Amino acid sequence: MRRIERLLAAMTLSEKLGQLNMVPGTRLVTGPGGHRDLGEGISAGRIGSVLNVWGAEQTDALQRSAMEHSRLKVPVLFALDVIHGHRTIFPVPLAEAGLFDPDTWEATARAAAAEAAQDGIALTFAPMLDVARDARWGRIVEGPGEDPWVAARFAEAKVHGWQGRAPDSRARFGATAKHFCAYGAVTAGREYASVDVAERTVHAVYLPPFAAAVGAGVFAIMPALTDLAGVPMTANAALLKVWLRARLGFDGVIVSDYNAVTDLCRHGVAADNLEAAVLALKAGVDIDMASGAYVQALPLALERGLVTSRDIDTSVRRVLRLKERLGLFDDPYQRGSRAAQDVLQTRALARAAARRAIVLLTLRRDVLTLDPALRRIALIGPLAAAGREMLGPWAAAGEPGEAVSVLEGLSAALPNCRIDCLAGVAIDGDATHEIASAVECCREAELVILCVGESASMSGEAASRAELGLPGSQRALADAVLAAGKPVVVLLFSGRPLAVPWLCERADALLAAWFLGSEAGHALADVLTGQSAPSGKLAVSWPRAGGQVPVFYAQRPSGRPSDETEHYSSRYLDVPFTPQFPFGHGLSYARIVLEAMQCVPAQVRGDGEIEVSVAVRNETNVGGEATVFLFIRDVVARVARPVLELRGVRKLQLGPSERGTVSWRLPVEMLAGLGDDPEPLPEPGLFEIHVGQSADPAGFLSARVELMP
Ligand code: BGC
Repeated sequence: MRRIERLLAAMTLSEKLGQLNMVPGTRLVTGPGGHRDLGEGISAGRIGSVLNVWGAEQTDALQRSAMEHSRLKVPVLFALDVIHGHRTIFPVPLAEAGLFDPDTWEATARAAAAEAAQDGIALTFAPMLDVARDARWGRIVEGPGEDPWVAARFAEAKVHGWQGRAPDSRARFGATAKHFCAYGAVTAGREYASVDVAERTVHAVYLPPFAAAVGAGVFAIMPALTDLAGVPMTANAALLKVWLRARLGFDGVIVSDYNAVTDLCRHGVAADNLEAAVLALKAGVDIDMASGAYVQALPLALERGLVTSRDIDTSVRRVLRLKERLGLFDDPYQRGSRAAQDVLQTRALARAAARRAIVLLTLRRDVLTLDPALRRIALIGPLAAAGREMLGPWAAAGEPGEAVSVLEGLSAALPNCRIDCLAGVAIDGDATHEIASAVECCREAELVILCVGESASMSGEAASRAELGLPGSQRALADAVLAAGKPVVVLLFSGRPLAVPWLCERADALLAAWFLGSEAGHALADVLTGQSAPSGKLAVSWPRAGGQVPVFYAQRPSGRPSDETEHYSSRYLDVPFTPQFPFGHGLSYARIVLEAMQCVPAQVRGDGEIEVSVAVRNETNVGGEATVFLFIRDVVARVARPVLELRGVRKLQLGPSERGTVSWRLPVEMLAGLGDDPEPLPEPGLFEIHVGQSADPAGFLSARVELMP
């Protein structure tokens, strides 16, 4: 603290604003003059942090500008979007969420932090915690899916992974919870569009993950680029200052999104950079990423009395404190290269996470696991040999050449099998001339593995899609291959659920292969050969048609509940009202059943606890993993609650024919809605407890509990 106050007292206004100024670099510009401008700005104290520069040499050189040439020797902070891995890329977050395993969520973040720190990075712009229920929105890939309770658990695990577990101790690496908030609800799934959700929904759905991140001690938070009911989040004092800072006590740094301060003008709430900078600073935004508005306009704003030097000092103090927490004052440089052993361990973790993220969506015929006696496979499709695509969006330092394609993975796993590989069509585009050769190739084979889906760049930021089908001519390829009469296993790559009901019906097996990262090909081979059983579950409901979105299980009840046999009910004329696959869906080679549920007591008081246990049995002679979800329903409340709300997930490994039990002790508070507003306590009355292997009510075991007044 003394260091911070001493520095603050010594700083000129320009040096203070420099600390609030984050400037982008680009790694590609390395020649003479490349980073010189950054270096000069840092030496002059006009730049306090840098994004998008990484690598020991580059960050050390820039750090020397701060530590050797600047007047006050305040270390510069290097930040980067390390979203799902740094050099070693793990599955995209939407896929990793489907592990429903906080330990792995934490472990992959820890490993990525270690790699990024070696490259000079001290802060990541992750975890992305936007609850997303609209697959048109490309950024659904970056987050933990549709459920706020899962998102909150994901937030805690990731913050612990990135930063370590002791919240107030020094960590070498910091996390940024983003995008605060409700970015996932952009109008019509269109990127950067406006957001208009009820205040109740903001509190019950969009804020809980951020509350969890703050509870876990997250160092930084980034407001969304979007507005909320007309107030851009970068200027949203009610949520940033009142809710986040005053109510939750968040004392970390708020860093704007890219150019978001200046963008306030385009949002129509500021006339110029001066007004924009004032609005953002007054709302509590400490760091201006990339827009330069703070540096440019705050001196005049101060002169005019629109902001006070106290406002500025408060933000500078937070930034210096962040640098102190990250240990940058004591150890400003990166710490050498990784040992070979670490690389192997990280790759092993990537492979394990990737295989567990694979979701077996359908299995119609006995085509899996692959018969070890197979002699000839046709590996068809534009994603079959596409190593680079396996990394998915946001793979900044991931090396495409280090990513394992399906072809490479299968070839390594099946050395005695001939694998003929043909793209057939491009991922996008109209050309169909190779389809005939692809079909020819299938005819020669005993089994076809068809690799179709999106390219890595079709999801992520600025990648909304209005249609959720296969891009380009891939449907024509798939139709031709499916008509060839051979058993077909389909690997579907995407950063979002794709609406492909025809493929779900016709594939002999269909697997969601997402973007699994550096070890994708090996992980897929592990599952296809039965080396490991598929265990991934969907963290998001999977639509049948784009017109169903937003589709999610936690709907509120309707006065005319959905019923296909009832005309005047909440449904569609042309498509069933149910998703193609419910939240939590995911098959395995084993068949696991829930046999009996116990829920005691039947009546409970406000300070009590409910004990729920379920007997689980593996009906088959292969091992598998049970994933059991616990949902609640508040049957009658003054304000209607969703028909299902998730409150617990348990996993259990079961050997052949093995039985087991999963159980929970639920404090009564867990019957309340999520969020702190406006009903933090459950209302007395009847509650239903449902357990199932997905959100499909057909598979539920259920009990009732009465909460006594
Ligand atoms: C994205 C953020 C990201 C930032 C820095 C923005 O365009 O919205 O998620 O952290 O860029 O790269």
